[in-house]
Amino acid sequence: MQVAPSEKQSIIYIDGEFMPERDAKISVFDHVVLYGDGVYDTCCAWNGKVFKLDEHLDRLFESAHAVKIEPPLSKSELKEAVLETVRQNELQDAYVKIILTRGVGELPLLSPYGCTPSLIIFAKPYMRLVGEDAHEKGIRAKLASVRRIPDQCLPSKIKSSNYQNHVLVRMEANEAGYDDGIELSTEGHIAEAPGYNIFVAKGGALYTPKDNILVGITRQTVIEIAEREGVPVHETTLTAFDLFNADEVFFSSTAGGIFAVVEVDGRKIGSGTPGLIAARFRERYYDLLESGEQSAAAY
Ligand SMILES: Cc1ncc(COP(=O)(O)O)c(C=O)c1O
Repeated sequence: MQVAPSEKQSIIYIDGEFMPERDAKISVFDHVVLYGDGVYDTCCAWNGKVFKLDEHLDRLFESAHAVKIEPPLSKSELKEAVLETVRQNELQDAYVKIILTRGVGELPLLSPYGCTPSLIIFAKPYMRLVGEDAHEKGIRAKLASVRRIPDQCLPSKIKSSNYQNHVLVRMEANEAGYDDGIELSTEGHIAEAPGYNIFVAKGGALYTPKDNILVGITRQTVIEIAEREGVPVHETTLTAFDLFNADEVFFSSTAGGIFAVVEVDGRKIGSGTPGLIAARFRERYYDLLESGEQSAAAY
């Protein structure tokens, strides 16, 4: 598996054309630059096949519909463009991002009307949000004081290009000496983490927050694996207390896989080392990626 970023110039898709990274540019007046006004999705390829690509495209189209950005391609055309981007970069294991911007309007002002959206796709050798270390040793997480933006302000199901809320959480945690942050809702319930969904394992069952989250494709995959393995899953309301007293806590995401959280705000979780449940789910998840059963072939 490739995990290191490549020095090679990648080939980027912008609005129907493939070009080298150095030539891949969008307007400074695009509303994604001016206001973070766009949507995106991240998927990954394993052995030349993009995992759950249809699900990622469904989520992107739903995000776009919710914020009234009209994708310039149909879903099947976009699917082909994603697979072609993987091929153009001659990648087997890839990190793929699809970005749909609001586009450029008549004036560089807030009005979203009359903008022409841009579609950008890039594929890089597979990159992990977390290092190998996190998979072996688990991570230490901080309950962030910055709260997750509530759904009343920006629905969490939209994978918006504006990630500043998550960036602030990550910075707060890192600068306090933790590997990452955990986001609470404004009511004080566990929501998610910057780029991850959260699972608690307790007494043979899994628990995961039901609200104020991006509905992760990996989260859904964990739920499906649990169903196959006969592990009950509860989508519910969780508090910090539930994390502190879990048998195990783990994060899930496309760009990070599944890995254990061994400490939350100075409390050891379970034994304080990565547990067997996170390890089992990670193994099953990678088996699924390797199998290509739920993936779209680029080659
Ligand atoms: C805020 C947030 N939550 C959860 C996730 C995990 O989603 P997925 O499993 O689809 O990668 C992501 C991934 O980008 C994310 O940005």
